[in-house]
Amino acid sequence: VDIQTINQERRLKLRTDDKYVHVMKYMGSKRDLLPDIKLEVDRILQGQGGVLDLFAGTGSVGLYLQDSYNIISNDIQSYSRVICEALIGKYSQTEIEIFKGKLIPLREKFEIHRWDLSTLLNFTLQESNRFVQVPKRTWTEELREEYLKFFATFPNPTNKFQTPSAELARLWMLYRERNADSKLFPYVQTTLLFSEAYFSLQQAIDIDSLRYAIDEVFPKDTREYNIAMTALLYAHSYCSSGTGHFATYRDLRTLNSINDVFLYRARVVYDYFLKKLIEIFDFLPTTQSDRGLSLAMDYRDLLAAGEYADKYDLIYADPPYSFVHYSRFYHATESLVLYDYQLPQYKGRYRTDRHQSPFCQGLTVQPAFEEIFRFAALYKKPVLLSYSNVGMISEVEIKKTALKYGFISETKEVNYEHSTLGREKHKSNQIKEYLVTFR
Ligand SMILES: C[S@@+](CC[C@H](N)C(=O)[O-])C[C@H]1O[C@@H](n2cnc3c(N)ncnc32)[C@H](O)[C@@H]1O
Repeated sequence: VDIQTINQERRLKLRTDDKYVHVMKYMGSKRDLLPDIKLEVDRILQGQGGVLDLFAGTGSVGLYLQDSYNIISNDIQSYSRVICEALIGKYSQTEIEIFKGKLIPLREKFEIHRWDLSTLLNFTLQESNRFVQVPKRTWTEELREEYLKFFATFPNPTNKFQTPSAELARLWMLYRERNADSKLFPYVQTTLLFSEAYFSLQQAIDIDSLRYAIDEVFPKDTREYNIAMTALLYAHSYCSSGTGHFATYRDLRTLNSINDVFLYRARVVYDYFLKKLIEIFDFLPTTQSDRGLSLAMDYRDLLAAGEYADKYDLIYADPPYSFVHYSRFYHATESLVLYDYQLPQYKGRYRTDRHQSPFCQGLTVQPAFEEIFRFAALYKKPVLLSYSNVGMISEVEIKKTALKYGFISETKEVNYEHSTLGREKHKSNQIKEYLVTFR
C-alpha cells in the first residue's frame, strides 16, 4: 500500500492545474485526487482507450482525463450530464465567437423576463431588497424578527402554500399552471420554491430569468445550451446561502446565522454566470479531445446495456459512500436543469422523484457493488474504485465481493489532512480515500 497525503499545500498546487473547471460545491468531488486517479488509470490503460466514469457527479475525472482517453460519463442526476456535455471535448475558437454573438440577445431576454417577474412581485421585492441592503454584519434582534415574519408569508409545503400576500398567492397559482405547461412565460420555478430559503427574491428571479433566456436563445441540448447551463449551475451553487447543498436551509435562529446568510444574498447572479462562462471559454480551447458520450442513467441500466461495453476499457467507479442521498442534497440543482415544476415536499421542498441510491443503504450496498463486478467480469473490464474508510461497507468486504468474480485487487491510500485551525494536529480524525484497482 502506497500512501499519499492531501494537505493544504497540495490543494493549492492543484488549484492552479488547468485541466479542471469548478462548477459546484459537491460532496465527494474528486478534485483533490485527480493526479492520483490519472496515475492509476495510466498504469492500467497505458494512455489508450476509453474510460467509463460511472458516477460522474461534477465530471471532474472525465475533464481531467479527456486528453488521453475517450470518456463516457454517467450519473443518475441530470445536472451531471449537462456539465460533462459542456466541458468534455474540443470546442473551436469559431464556436466560441458564435456563442459570444448570442450574449446580447441572451441579456435582452434576461432583462425582459426579469422586468416582468419583478413587476409581478413588486411589493414583495421591495421588502426583500430592504433586508438585502442591511449593511454587512449589522443585523439586530428586532430586524431579525421582522425578517422571519416576512419569510413566513412565503407559500411552501409546511404552510400548505397558504399566504396572506396577494402577490405570492398569484405566484403559487402561476406555479401550478406551469406544472401542466412548463414553457409558459414568465418562468417562476426557483422564485416560488426557493426565494428567501436559499436565495434572496432578486437572486431567485434572476436565476429564473437566465434559465428562461437560455431556453430562448440556445436550442435545447446543444453544446452551447449545456455550456450556458453549466455557467448557470455555478451561479446557482455560489449564490445560494451557505453550505452549497440543498438538504436544508438555515433557520436564522441567531444573529450570527442571519449575518452569515445575508453575506450571500447580495451576490449578483448574472456576474457569477459571466465569470464562469469566461473561465469555460478559457478552458475549452486547451482540450483537443473528441466529444465524450454523457448519459444520465442508473449505473445498472448502463452496465446492462451491452451496446456501450465496446466503448470503454476501464470502469472508474466513484459511488456515494455515505448514507446521504445526492438526490436530497442537490434536488434544487436537479430541478433547475429539469425545470418541470414538480410539486415539492417537506420543509426542504424536495422533489418527489428523488433517487434512493442502493449505495446509501446498509442492506443494499453490498449487492450494489456486486452488480459492478458482475458486469465487469462479463465484459472482462478492469475496475478502478474510489472509496472511503468511513464508507457504508468495508474495503475488505468489497474485495471479497470482487474476488467472487475473479478480481485481484491492489490498493492505494490517500490521507486527508483536515485543517485543524491551529489546534493540535494529530487528533483530527483521519479520513482516507482508497483507490483500488481490480483486474
Ligand atoms: C461520490 S459522487 C461522484 C463525484 C464525482 N467523481 C466528482 O468528482 O464530482 C457519487 C455520484 O453517484 C451518483 N449516483 C448515486 N446513485 C447512482 C446510481 N444508482 N446510478 C448512477 N449514479 C448514481 C450521485 O448522483 C453522485 O453524483
